[in-house]
Amino acid sequence: MRILSGIQPTNVVTLGNYLGAMKNFVKLQNEFEDADILVFVADLHSITIPKDRSELKKNIKTLAALYIAVGLDPKKVHLFIQSEVPPHAELSYIIECNSYIGEMERMIQFKEKSQKEGETVTTGLLTYPCLMAADILLYDTDLVPVGADQKQHLELTRNIAERFNNKYGDTFKVPEPYIVKKSARIMSLQDPDKKMSKSDPNPKGYITLLDNINEAKNKIRRAVTDSIGIIKYDEENQKGLANLINIYSLLTNLSIEEIEKKYIGLGYKEFKEDLAEIVGQELEKIQDNYSSILASNELDEILDEGREYALKLAERKLAKVHKKIGLGR
Ligand code: AMP
Ligand code: TRP
Repeated sequence: MRILSGIQPTNVVTLGNYLGAMKNFVKLQNEFEDADILVFVADLHSITIPKDRSELKKNIKTLAALYIAVGLDPKKVHLFIQSEVPPHAELSYIIECNSYIGEMERMIQFKEKSQKEGETVTTGLLTYPCLMAADILLYDTDLVPVGADQKQHLELTRNIAERFNNKYGDTFKVPEPYIVKKSARIMSLQDPDKKMSKSDPNPKGYITLLDNINEAKNKIRRAVTDSIGIIKYDEENQKGLANLINIYSLLTNLSIEEIEKKYIGLGYKEFKEDLAEIVGQELEKIQDNYSSILASNELDEILDEGREYALKLAERKLAKVHKKIGLGR
């Protein structure tokens, strides 16, 4: 079985990215001993909205190091940088020629992001799902762990694969998404109706993995809740609290019921204080690992191995695609 996923190196990695995506990669790595796992830094995706050169360089390295810091085991996982494996961009072009503008325009993320960008929407932002489909289809991927916001792109990838197979004969494996419901949407700490996002203009709404520990704890202490005052999981009337209970549960592996029971008769203050401590400890562990990875040469070796491994598989698949279509000599 092959598992693959990627994250864009944009700004900082939030607790939402960690709980919604990265932590699931680690879980899958530990659950499926025999799986072949590919994880990459989606740097080509991140330039669909133009980026500052030195920021981009820094963010690529940070994300690569964070993958290892949160617990991906380089002995089990092949970690690589998307742009270092040229078949991604090449297959993306071929997929562009086998998909429709209407399909791209229907993507929710395109609608949202293009609205935000105004008049300077790049062509790459529109064709982004083709690149994502290429990332997945190059490797005969079985399972793609992502947050809920990527579900539509996954469905499009499946359609593209099936259409291609029908037209040119069996070429691509049709992948399955892997979305963990509880962690699929971690919400903003300031506005529980909005997803936790690094593009939030209010930094109190999100926690990043490299936040100062005390600041991160304060963000939990000041998270928006309600005036009901009882620790109960109620997504309708106590949205902010439900989000905090989710975070608590994901970080401790306690079930929601266990958490509710633990806080019977106690208030938000005690609950938040404990959660602040839990989040603080998790960040501390990650940040310690992160510093030691950056201080060693290990990361470059890991990324070199990942690139060689990915290249071999991707080139083979791309050659097959060329042949099916009739490209080249
Ligand atoms: P992005 O930062 O948009 O490139 O997302 C990277 C990964 O993190 C994707 O799998 C997203 O679905 C996931 N993700 C991003 N924000 C959240 C969030 N607030 N809650 C859960 N998952 C998220
Ligand atoms: N588009 C994803 C995001 O923004 C990142 C991504 C790119 C990805 N290629 C992928 C995720 C392939 C899974 C598989 O979060």
